[in-house]
Amino acid sequence: RYSPSSGLRIFSSTAIGPTFPQFLLASASTCTSAQRFSTTSKYSSENIISSPLPEITNKFPQLKNYSQLYDFSLRESDQFWGTLGSELLQWNEPFTTVSRHDHKSSTFRWFHDGKLNAAVNCVDRHAAEHPDRVALIWERDEPGHEQRVTYRELQEMVWRVAGVLTESGVSAGDRVAIYLPVSPVAVATMLGCARIGAVHSVVFAGFSAQALASRIQDAGASVLVTANSSTRGGRLIPLQATARAAVALCPGVRQVFVMPHSPQPLELADNEVDLERAMSAVQTAPPPSVQGAEDPLFLLYTSGSTGKPKGLVHTTAGYLLYAALTHRLVFDYKPGDVFGCVADIGWITGHSYVVYGPLLNGGTTVLFESTPVHPDAGRYWETVERLRITQFYGAPTAIRLLLRFGDDFVKKYDRSSLRVLGSVGEPINSEAWRWYYDVVGDGRCTVVDTWWQSETGGIMIHMTVPQRRGSGTVLCCAVLSDSQGKPVYDSGATGALCVSSIWPGIARTIHGDHQRYHDTYFAPYAGLYFSGDGARRDDEGYLHITGRMDDVINVSGHRLGTAEVEDVMMEHPEVSETAVVGCPHALKGETIFAFLVLKENSASPQHKIETELRESVKHNIASYAVPEFMLIAPALPKTRSGKIMRRLLRQIAKGNLEDLGDTSTLADPAAVETVLKLYRQMP
Ligand code: WTA
Repeated sequence: RYSPSSGLRIFSSTAIGPTFPQFLLASASTCTSAQRFSTTSKYSSENIISSPLPEITNKFPQLKNYSQLYDFSLRESDQFWGTLGSELLQWNEPFTTVSRHDHKSSTFRWFHDGKLNAAVNCVDRHAAEHPDRVALIWERDEPGHEQRVTYRELQEMVWRVAGVLTESGVSAGDRVAIYLPVSPVAVATMLGCARIGAVHSVVFAGFSAQALASRIQDAGASVLVTANSSTRGGRLIPLQATARAAVALCPGVRQVFVMPHSPQPLELADNEVDLERAMSAVQTAPPPSVQGAEDPLFLLYTSGSTGKPKGLVHTTAGYLLYAALTHRLVFDYKPGDVFGCVADIGWITGHSYVVYGPLLNGGTTVLFESTPVHPDAGRYWETVERLRITQFYGAPTAIRLLLRFGDDFVKKYDRSSLRVLGSVGEPINSEAWRWYYDVVGDGRCTVVDTWWQSETGGIMIHMTVPQRRGSGTVLCCAVLSDSQGKPVYDSGATGALCVSSIWPGIARTIHGDHQRYHDTYFAPYAGLYFSGDGARRDDEGYLHITGRMDDVINVSGHRLGTAEVEDVMMEHPEVSETAVVGCPHALKGETIFAFLVLKENSASPQHKIETELRESVKHNIASYAVPEFMLIAPALPKTRSGKIMRRLLRQIAKGNLEDLGDTSTLADPAAVETVLKLYRQMP
């Protein structure tokens, strides 16, 4: 079990950039951004903030570096975004209004009277200009089997998928569920939907049948696209079987397309169609559907603090612009680069920095289907050498894992192509940062820690200086708020991490529940977007992320609501109460600790119940959601009003047994004593 004294500090907090009281107070002139961003660190020369801008537009010749760009984006927001919106995207009908927001109803609109097509922007315009440029490099599970797809080939794939979907009756606005491994056909399916104005909902291919079914149903998808099976780390993943089990629970699904991903012959049920065959049969490409800028582009489900995952709705133009711009700015993207983001397309990182950002910029993007340790711990760096990757973007959890295997796995491969190393999804601890910088990057690459969320659509905060891991903000204004929604600037202050301006990439609503959107993100702190994360301000004004303020935990970079796990465990006939909390873990960042109370009449041995619970969580959610620790107690500590004292359980799960804080509101102090005793007896 993790003990806080075991050496590796997991929650060494992440610094995220100076903050900008000036902007909040609406006078930008009292402090220059150079002062705000200045740092005396030995790494400061690596700082993107003061470095010249990558080529984005020649419309702002006066902007020489990132901080000037940042200031301008906040001061002249509509001019800034409007200019970039026209420059970076291709429009069928130009917009006349840049932004129109109604804060009262949390309704945000960007470029709303403009019309465009997302797939044309990602593929067709580049296929017309440079058809033979490689769009995708599919790095398959087995090393050395990569496949390259040019823009011309990708265009044809997208046309064909769009044709298949149209022939099956899918039209603009319909939702299409995608349950596929990272692969060219997955990208073509996302963009095939976009071509005809359908809304894709990619479900991570590690999710269980139950989890897939609930997402299909919430989205009201009538078509599912999957594969017969895939392999990851050499292990076969039976996608079609899982998809079948999900579809059995979804009467609304009328058609399932199955990609023959692995060589086994396809076996098809009545409602299943061979996707590859259907694609070859398409005679004419459906014309791109001309969509409104604010039409939904995709749904993406993410965990919140209540049981039901939220279907975030991202719309078209604003999302595309934000993904494209941040991809260029944060990663210093240049034509000819090979961009290697190793995230799965089932997460927002995969959407924005495997698919949309790189393709919008006409880039070459790597689709990584494997794991960091297959066939050994050198896999990432062997791939970097073979594909000549220029930017590598991954998660701290993998870095923490790999550094334990030693430097040789890195050093034996040529990494001279690398310029930028990115980190995303969770705080990067100092040991991992240093190793990434010194060993992987040979001390010459920029390491950039990026903070953002499924809700934000793209990177919000980025920083290249280790002591300030986290960042300077990206064209949005991060602020620290006290409990009343008042910004706080005192050093040492802690508060809620909020954003004070509306940026184009923000999710516009939660599918079918706009009230929940408003209540979650805008009601807590008036006038501010609330991220759900907490932060602390240091002596120099930088913010350090301290972790989630709600009941969301982060296991290996995967977001998980504790209520989701509790809901599943409560289904067990012998369980009467559960409380699930996160506790620090040396590799995963956080892991899951479940406290349980059994029913009076429960007769099964505890280990049997625990095994059943683990199985059930895996079956209903996914493997990463399975609790690592379980403690069965006769009762859980509760307040006099009957609420479980989670704060206390969190302390116990962390092993902070001495410092349990205020226990005066406990209804039954003996319950804590028993839990503590049982905890001490745990193996
Ligand atoms: C956490 C992933 C510290 C944070 C793109 C956030 C981070 C949640 C960082 C979003 C970082 C993400 N440092 N924490 N650089 N990046 N987080 O929606 O708690 O899967 O709220 O989006 O991950 O997770 P999501």
